[in-house]
Amino acid sequence: MPAALHRPEPVLLHRAQPVDRNVPPAQAAAWLREGRSLIVTDRFVTGLDILEALRVQLEDPGENAGYVEKRTFREAFQSASKHLLVPVVGRKVALPDAPRAGFLAELYPDHADFALPVEDAKVLSSAWGWYETGVHFPVLGYRVHPFYGTYIPARMEHLELFGTWLAKYQGARNRAIDVGTGSGVLTLQIAKAGFKHVIATDINPNAIESVARQLRRLPKALPIELENADLLGTDRGPIDLIVSNPPWMKGEVGRTLDLAMYFQDGFFERFYEQCLQRLAPGGRVVFVFSNIIELSQPEVPHPIQTELDRGRFRLVEKMTRKVKPSPGRRTREKVEVWELAVV
Ligand SMILES: C[S@@+](CC[C@H](N)C(=O)[O-])C[C@H]1O[C@@H](n2cnc3c(N)ncnc32)[C@H](O)[C@@H]1O
Repeated sequence: MPAALHRPEPVLLHRAQPVDRNVPPAQAAAWLREGRSLIVTDRFVTGLDILEALRVQLEDPGENAGYVEKRTFREAFQSASKHLLVPVVGRKVALPDAPRAGFLAELYPDHADFALPVEDAKVLSSAWGWYETGVHFPVLGYRVHPFYGTYIPARMEHLELFGTWLAKYQGARNRAIDVGTGSGVLTLQIAKAGFKHVIATDINPNAIESVARQLRRLPKALPIELENADLLGTDRGPIDLIVSNPPWMKGEVGRTLDLAMYFQDGFFERFYEQCLQRLAPGGRVVFVFSNIIELSQPEVPHPIQTELDRGRFRLVEKMTRKVKPSPGRRTREKVEVWELAVV
């Protein structure tokens, strides 16, 4: 089990001003923007109303906005909302209507009573809901139960496309690696395809914890080895298949989950170097990717095409599939599977 799991930082000492439903949410939101600390004393919904007023005041640009707009809003929202607290007593949010957040009992063995930003308490409780209910993946035929702080795919098309690619795969099945396993879906697909040894790495310890718990839920033991590590982790010998659904866009990493979305300079260069060292003769590198980078960051050199242009790898196959648009929204987005072999 990884040593230190990511969790929202507990607030152990504060001099926050009590607020309840008698304070107009817009007033409380304005105080937060001035940097004042507040603690909700009556009901969880009071905290949610204040967060909503804060969203309105900071002009939330919505899901369809561009990267920069969304990021600017998020930073302003985070910096103000972190001052709005709820009390935690005995590892439970001490407000009568607070949703259950069982992760409080798991993630805070060292503290029973503290305070947390409302936003963090909200994220912990929705994560608990996903964890308890699980998410059904048709490509696996069962539910995956993501641990708190772990990336969970929001759509299925790329997993289906990878499944189509995997069904055609004719190479050796001795050792495969899934770099950046997240909640483990690709790892579980690879294991289902009969590989003898599947390694799953992730730099986020919560992801490794998530997959470890998932494996314990399954009726049959799978030959999956987990490592909380950067990129390919420890060398265990030649690898027939290196798979990764890497971050799809370039950007700054603030929260742990940003690691799932944004890569930084050097990420792909280091990745290719390690692939060249570890790939078995005839082995394959397979990226699950998207054209989102071409659509929203045309100025960023394409991390796969740029490497192909260097001539160290050749493209064996590229598969693409349209993404189903969300209601009321058009999209030119496509998911992709890139299969590369060493030249
Ligand atoms: C887009 S998510 C994909 C997760 C999962 N494979 C899937 O398809 O649902 C990318 C994952 O890569 C992990 N990651 C990011 N940088 C990494 C690195 N340097 N080494 C290992 N894993 C990394 C993130 O924590 C995240 O879990």
